[in-house]
Amino acid sequence: MSNIRPSDMERITTRELAEKFIEEQIAEIKAQVGDEGKVLLALSGGVDSSVVAALLIKAIGDRLVCVHVNHGLLRKGEPEQVISVFREELGANLIYVDAADRFLDKLAGVAEPETKRKIIGAEFIDVFAEEAEKLEGIAFLAQGTIYPDILESDGVKAHHNVGGLPEDLQFELVEPVKLLYKDEVRVVGSALGLPDSMVYRQPFPGPGLGVRCVGAITRDRLEAVREADAIVREEIGKLEPAPWQYFCAIPDFVSTGVKDDKRYMGWAVVIRAINTVDAVTAEAVEIPWQMLKRIRDRIIAEVAGVNRVLWDVSDKPVSTIEWE
Ligand code: XMP
Repeated sequence: MSNIRPSDMERITTRELAEKFIEEQIAEIKAQVGDEGKVLLALSGGVDSSVVAALLIKAIGDRLVCVHVNHGLLRKGEPEQVISVFREELGANLIYVDAADRFLDKLAGVAEPETKRKIIGAEFIDVFAEEAEKLEGIAFLAQGTIYPDILESDGVKAHHNVGGLPEDLQFELVEPVKLLYKDEVRVVGSALGLPDSMVYRQPFPGPGLGVRCVGAITRDRLEAVREADAIVREEIGKLEPAPWQYFCAIPDFVSTGVKDDKRYMGWAVVIRAINTVDAVTAEAVEIPWQMLKRIRDRIIAEVAGVNRVLWDVSDKPVSTIEWE
């Protein structure tokens, strides 16, 4: 498949067109991989890699080996959803790697945002390469490259870029959705039977909660932001339409609370909800006061250590969408 989308390629907007695409891709994957070829895939649980996994499972079954690396910075319930959808429902050959301790140990005491990102990216490649080395007879690597990745970069996914794999681990790439735009990938994902919560989920950065646990990550603040984020997603997700991105960050300063007439140190969490077209500019979304109060009350009642809830009303520019 060439890296250029033909000008007459029909936009996949309906289930019918998605089914036709799926059939064509299954035939192409079978032709590329052959009757015995084995394929490796880093399955993050994001839309693109999930759709690629579902397509390959249809085409070659358990000759696809999915590796899901839990770097400890995923949202609440994410690894569990990957396991239940892929291993239990789709029967995927899935290797689950709980590498949380490894990542968090490497990140301990590191406060600079870009250094944190680099550590997470490098560690991801190391963990994935280690898993790949344990497997035998794998000649192909599947990637969820989509058309904007090709237009914007050199065609390699920015975060789950496995281009840094050691030389003795070189694979032929399988990239079945590389000519599709995001909205088309979603239509294909639905037609493949993936749940809406996976297909229509909001964008989530590769370094995950790592960039939302501001400054040096500590395990207690990380757990707090993960719990608070689950509440924010559940509540703000009720808005129709839901904002483009809505989440929580936890700053690295203490917040004084008071309980039974005693003052104590806790943390603040920040709610952020934005709309955008391309993430280059973004506008803070208005959240109804009743909803804000409910989020505040739930966070204070359910999240250990948090005694203050803030709402970030900043637009981009000048504030970035993420806190770091
Ligand atoms: P910012 O914070 O730069 O974010 O306004 C723009 C969009 O990019 C996402 N984002 C990232 N995605 N790796 C990613 O894969 C990253 O390091 C990263 N940082 C920001 C952010 O969630 C938003 O959608």
